Amino acid sequence: MSKPDVQRDEWVHSQEVYTMDIRTDPLVNEIKDLAPNVSIVGGTFAHCLPAPKKVPQAERSSVLERVRRDATGKCLTALLMAAGLPAIEPGHLPSGARDWPAGYTGSVSHKGTKVVTALTRIGKLRSVGIDVETLDGGRELSDIKGLIAADELPLTLGTMGSVILLSVKEAVYKALNPVLGIRFGYEEIQISWKDIARQRMSGVAHFDRITVDVRCSTAVPRWVGSVALVRPQPGLPSPHV
Ligand SMILES: CC(C)(COP(=O)(O)OP(=O)(O)OC[C@H]1O[C@@H](n2cnc3c(N)ncnc32)[C@H](O)[C@@H]1OP(=O)(O)O)[C@@H](O)C(=O)NCCC(=O)NCCS
Repeated sequence: MSKPDVQRDEWVHSQEVYTMDIRTDPLVNEIKDLAPNVSIVGGTFAHCLPAPKKVPQAERSSVLERVRRDATGKCLTALLMAAGLPAIEPGHLPSGARDWPAGYTGSVSHKGTKVVTALTRIGKLRSVGIDVETLDGGRELSDIKGLIAADELPLTLGTMGSVILLSVKEAVYKALNPVLGIRFGYEEIQISWKDIARQRMSGVAHFDRITVDVRCSTAVPRWVGSVALVRPQPGLPSPHV
């Protein structure tokens, strides 16, 4: 039996005690495969939530938000401990990115009841971005219009292609924004695919003169997981290590 990635804990809602443990999830395993040199911790916390009938409709999103926040914090402290760092959850920078310990960098993504966190030492990798999305909802096509170019769309993927591209661009944004310190739009990132298999794709993202390796997986039905890996290169500011 596979062990949970993160230690058990408890949380209370309406005087009932719920177990807070993150269970391994196939999407997290996909992200681990896409980024073998990055430490990844995550999973699903769906089973930690009270049954919907026990939570008034008006409170459900705040309960989900609270449990997601706790689950993210547990994943992050597990990552830091595994790296031999103090188990203190990194706070947020004004940009929304996490304030990683000196010499390290990482990324966070959550969707629904899944959470994924990543950590790597700054060295062979300068930065990492991860993103998880559902393929079948959440994004109106009108939101996407203008953010992707026709030649970026892998034709074989049909309508899923737009959501996959946005997920990949979100991972690129999360990797580059903390390094460059500037905001930019997804239409400024261009993706060129190198290898398109049925459930795994890889390519290169270009932003200005910077290149980012991108990989994504649709092996878990209804989900896409994306990873962006930034290697040291001219044009990147020096890291604060
Ligand atoms: C930051 C952003 C990429 C988050 O993506 P998302 O799919 O909404 O949400 P996810 O759950 O995947 O990611 C959330 C995590 O992103 C991370 N994040 C937030 N801002 C970030 C930033 N500037 N850089 C890197 N990571 C960031 C945080 O760690 C956050 O999780 P946490 O608050 O628990 O730590 C996205 O919402 C955003 O703001 N993008 C701005 C760029 C943009 O929208 N460009 C298009 C304009 S046309």
